[in-house]
Amino acid sequence: MTDRAPVDFQALILAAGMGTRMRSETVKVLHEVLGKPMIGHVVDTALAAGAQRVVSVLGHQRERVQAWLESHRQADKLCYAVQHEQLGTAHAVLAAQAFFADGPKYTVILSGDVPNLDVDTLRSFVDEAVASVAPLTVMTAILDDARHYGRIVRNDAGQVTAIVEFRDASPAQRELKEFNAGIYVARTEFLARHLPALCAAPSTNAQKEFYLTDLVALAAAESHAHGYVVSEVELVQGVNNRQDLAARVEFARCRLNAHWMDQGVTLIDPARTIIEADVALAQDVILYPDVHLRGQSRIGAGSVIENGCVLLDAVVGQNVVLKAYCYITEAQIDDDASIGPFVHLRPEADIGKGCKIGNFVEIKKTRMDDGSKANHLTYLGDAHIGEGANVGAGTITCNYDGKNKHRTTIGKRAFIGSNTALVAPVRIGDGAYVGAGSVITNDVPDEALGVARGRQKNIEGWASGKGK
Ligand code: UD1
Ligand code: MG
Repeated sequence: MTDRAPVDFQALILAAGMGTRMRSETVKVLHEVLGKPMIGHVVDTALAAGAQRVVSVLGHQRERVQAWLESHRQADKLCYAVQHEQLGTAHAVLAAQAFFADGPKYTVILSGDVPNLDVDTLRSFVDEAVASVAPLTVMTAILDDARHYGRIVRNDAGQVTAIVEFRDASPAQRELKEFNAGIYVARTEFLARHLPALCAAPSTNAQKEFYLTDLVALAAAESHAHGYVVSEVELVQGVNNRQDLAARVEFARCRLNAHWMDQGVTLIDPARTIIEADVALAQDVILYPDVHLRGQSRIGAGSVIENGCVLLDAVVGQNVVLKAYCYITEAQIDDDASIGPFVHLRPEADIGKGCKIGNFVEIKKTRMDDGSKANHLTYLGDAHIGEGANVGAGTITCNYDGKNKHRTTIGKRAFIGSNTALVAPVRIGDGAYVGAGSVITNDVPDEALGVARGRQKNIEGWASGKGK
């Protein structure tokens, strides 16, 4: 896809801090943006931009963070360094020094709490940094009020000479609008040479920390430091508290919704549609308001998802209609099926082609073969429903005896009358019928009629004798 030789670089993600301003039991980098922890977004961006390996510097709750990273599909490219005490961003990078000696020529330093940086920006940042031949390039952006970010100090020639943290800045420096995004490209050799000394000298700044930002002045003194200005400030804004998180999620949501619209998906009301980061949608999918597509859900071409449906790790085929307010987790729906309104599909519900599942039906661990139907008020659990079978209103598979689960099999073209209890394990044969209101405890042979209920008795003249 690209006409340049790929740059040889590793990425380092700073993620050891707790993030106390989040006021959470959970470490900051595990807070989610569109269903994926912030650190997951940063890892994915680094890998997609071409990082040979990604080293996460972990500290607080490192077992939890590492456990999540180890489940990543490219876990073989992920490495870990531990920063036991959080003594500052320079100290965090130094914690990864074992990866400098044998590492690639360039190290990209990223923050685990900046989730919206995109692959194109990161790639062009790396390319420009390499072309600049500076030992250190810093990513910056402009805000009228750069709040608590570190300020970029440039000389009269426009060259970056230093970064001053907000707390250490003079009133005049606080007026500067260009801020440090906390993302850098460094020559790995430059880091290895300067960081040990930087972290050995007593820290004199307001936070008594070892600042990575101090490397900028060192680079400027040695040769020069390069500044790369990102024009879309939202790409580099970080998360320090829950309000920041909501703002970053909103940006990510709008950007991803726009992407899917560009791919040919109709969003009736984009402002009320949530599509998580790892969801995949085909062309001509239509999403009504308040749809929430979660996890690894996949939706096939031409499928319509009406208001209020929630799908988690669902696989939906083509031209499926999900009527309003369905809740679907880890289930599969084949082409041309019609589901809902108000249907609950639980894990391992597997709905065949052209099936019809109507209102107030719950299904789990059940295969419905092509063209079968359960149109109203039914529970199907641990069952196999044959092709073209019709499950009447109010049918319940009694799959649980209080200790164990048992299976129900309903044959091809079978017809289950309304309000039937199928006490598992039980089999209804191909083409068999079950009379309405039956409690079926024994198998019904192929083509037979099973009826299991009290016979009706009519008492003639009963009404006129009443009350005498
Ligand atoms: C840092 C920069 C600031 C920049 C801002 C951008 C420094 C000194 N300041 O400030 O110039 O504008 O990012 O967002 O670098 N971390 C560790 N170990 C530590 C300290 C931090 O791993 O000892 C990690 C944190 O978990 C976090 C990241 O580094 O993911 C940034 O740390 P944070 O404390 O948020 O730095 P800022 O104050 O935001
Ligand atoms: Mg921060």
